[in-house]
Amino acid sequence: MIRIDKVMLAAAVSCAALAGAARADGTVEVLHWWTSGGEAKAVGELKKAFEAEGGTWVDSPIAGGGGDAAMTALRARVMAGNPPTAVQLKGPGIQEWAEQGALNNVQDVAEAGNWDKVLPPALASIMKYEGKYVAAPVNIHRVDWIWGSPEALKKAGVEAMPTTWEEFNAAADKLEAAGLIALAHGGQPWQDATLFETVVLGVGGADFYRKALVELDDAALRSDTMVASFDQLRKLRGYVDPNFSGRDWNLATGMVMRGEAGFQIMGDWAKGEFLAAGKVPGEDFLCAPTPGKGFILNSDSFTFFKVSGDDNIKGQKVLARLIMSPEFQKVFNMAKGSIPARTDVPLDDFDSCAKRSHEDLLAAIENDTLVPSMAHEMAVPRSVRGEFLDLVTQFFNSDMSSQDATTRLADAVQRAM
Ligand code: BGC
Repeated sequence: MIRIDKVMLAAAVSCAALAGAARADGTVEVLHWWTSGGEAKAVGELKKAFEAEGGTWVDSPIAGGGGDAAMTALRARVMAGNPPTAVQLKGPGIQEWAEQGALNNVQDVAEAGNWDKVLPPALASIMKYEGKYVAAPVNIHRVDWIWGSPEALKKAGVEAMPTTWEEFNAAADKLEAAGLIALAHGGQPWQDATLFETVVLGVGGADFYRKALVELDDAALRSDTMVASFDQLRKLRGYVDPNFSGRDWNLATGMVMRGEAGFQIMGDWAKGEFLAAGKVPGEDFLCAPTPGKGFILNSDSFTFFKVSGDDNIKGQKVLARLIMSPEFQKVFNMAKGSIPARTDVPLDDFDSCAKRSHEDLLAAIENDTLVPSMAHEMAVPRSVRGEFLDLVTQFFNSDMSSQDATTRLADAVQRAM
């Protein structure tokens, strides 16, 4: 009897020690939409780092590029009074949830880690609500990229990646003449909107982009420049294969990888796919900015929802600290295709596309041509973004004229404001 008591006591003590250890190192349930090959690899780095500190990671992936499905799931969880501890969220969405009182701040972690000193001010302000950090940024993604297949381009006699939309169209015509798909694309609203915003930047320039897609200036939205942007989007629609509808973005990347298609226009998470498949930039695939001067910014970040319990709060703080550590920012971004959000992480080990992204980012800051992504929720409230996505997708899937699209878009944005 005594022996049993002793065994039981020992077991109870060791259980308590284990539970204590888990509590001490925190638990996080992380809601995210990183489910493609490159994305899963990248988020795996965060899980690994968190678990290395003794924390418990509960993974809640919601598949769907661009995160629209994840945001629907998040709303349902919050409505049910059961928010996840950490959520991949960005741009104005952070402010929207903070205004509703849904977020915890991690200001103490931010102060201890000097976040104000190591983040670009434009990014730091997106992460703060009422002067306190409620989010931690993991990266800087660039949206305005063209990915090219050297094999397909060679077959079609295209010598270089295009630098103007005229060159793009001419190269696409050659690819089609060679029996190849010119533009690998997935017909999903956020992907259509991704094409659209790169075209708006290329056709109208950064000032026009800002007026139309960020400030929602009515005159810009109704301008001839917008009509011309829709004209180029119509051209792109013509370069897409018949099976594009509903295709996931990473499957489109696969088409470029296999040399079936010449180009994909997509943010540099596409590079994460090439890298995860062991492909080498400059050899197996090419990267070039889409035509036009500027840099469309998309930054992923994690927010910390209002949860209770020491274990969860501890988890949020540990996660925030890890996300902003230079070591994590390096390994994560080398897998994700992006560059670090921190300005003090050396890029020596990064590939040539990442280095180009960094150079162009600095130039864009200098020339005031850095613009936030509308399609990727960095620019306007979700309700307004929804109007853009609906209209652009309708245009893409019908024979709507560019003039009609321009008027309907401006009317819809006005109604949503
Ligand atoms: C996110 C990326 C993600 C991509 C595709 C973007 O909105 O910022 O991190 O890889 O969507 O899912």
